[in-house]
Amino acid sequence: MTKKIAILPGDGIGPEIVAEALRVLTFLNADMNLGLEFEQGLIGGAAYDEYGTPLPQVTLDLCQAADAVLLGAVGGPKWEPLDHAVRPERGLLGIRAELKLFSNLRPAILYPQLADASSLKSEIVSGLDLMIVRELTGGIYFGQPRGVRTLENGEKQGYNTLVYSESEIRRIAHSAFQIAQKRNKRLCSVDKANVLECTELWREVMNEVATQYPDVTLSHMYVDNASMQLVRAPKQFDVMVTTNMFGDILSDTAAMLTGSIGMLPSASLDESGKGMYEPIHGSAPDIAGQGVANPLATILSVAMMLRYTFAEATAADRIEAAVNAALDAGVRTADIFAEGNNKVSTSEMGDAVINALKVGV
Ligand code: IPM
Ligand code: MG
Repeated sequence: MTKKIAILPGDGIGPEIVAEALRVLTFLNADMNLGLEFEQGLIGGAAYDEYGTPLPQVTLDLCQAADAVLLGAVGGPKWEPLDHAVRPERGLLGIRAELKLFSNLRPAILYPQLADASSLKSEIVSGLDLMIVRELTGGIYFGQPRGVRTLENGEKQGYNTLVYSESEIRRIAHSAFQIAQKRNKRLCSVDKANVLECTELWREVMNEVATQYPDVTLSHMYVDNASMQLVRAPKQFDVMVTTNMFGDILSDTAAMLTGSIGMLPSASLDESGKGMYEPIHGSAPDIAGQGVANPLATILSVAMMLRYTFAEATAADRIEAAVNAALDAGVRTADIFAEGNNKVSTSEMGDAVINALKVGV
């Protein structure tokens, strides 16, 4: 069986970081006979420039035929003046929806070598290993009606709709409980049930699904408190599950606890385990093309791909160990650089990971 991976570098630093992840994947593919095949496609601003849409049908066909997708990042100032409907971000939202990638896993792990890079005191964050499970194809991001309308008095009014059906909540709940079962068996569901009826239902369904996972301890927290707890005492959390928008916000906070958003991968999965894998950070147009971006989040996204879609745990372990070895060796891209380290470029960081893979760390 061939295993096909669609490669979508996207915009900004996307092509640079994806190139390094692809080198790592190509090395392991040969070294371990993984049987992976790659095909590249355009998404985001790069696709708009070529096809006039951020998610062309050819890209969608490529992704639908693939077993997994590796994405760099989308967006940049060049496309900001465009109409909302063709902005690069719409390409990303479109592919999430079309591929039904409802379960977004965003780990926040503090690498001990980077404990001083966090803006929080190292005792608050050292040993942090948290997983945010974000619902990705529903909620206010997709709810109808939406838009900007003009009222009778001539005033404009913007509106979006927060909507979740029981089945949408139930499937993300199952996803989160199953991840918690493989970790420390504690799940915190984040909502705003004191104000929003939609998330009152969210809480009810979480409680209902919990009865099927008696080994997992479920707790609930309001999102405002959760955002405070994340910076007060983040190690209290094991797995958090939340709505699309709350997950967007909380996962950026969680990322920063680890010192660099340049280190964090993510997986977006459908019901069958097919997935799209991408770094959490964006396209960083300010540093694009300079060869200074950190490719580790993308390289670690490849590890997640091998683990979750292809069940190649050994290959995934090897990548994660090689990233650790590169950090141990003191190589650092600019975003994680501190005095005494060896500052390297994007491709030199790729080299360091591949060398560690070669020597078997
Ligand atoms: C993310 C991003 C996206 C989101 C944007 C680029 C549409 O912030 O993946 O967290 O809001 O989901
Ligand atoms: Mg975000």
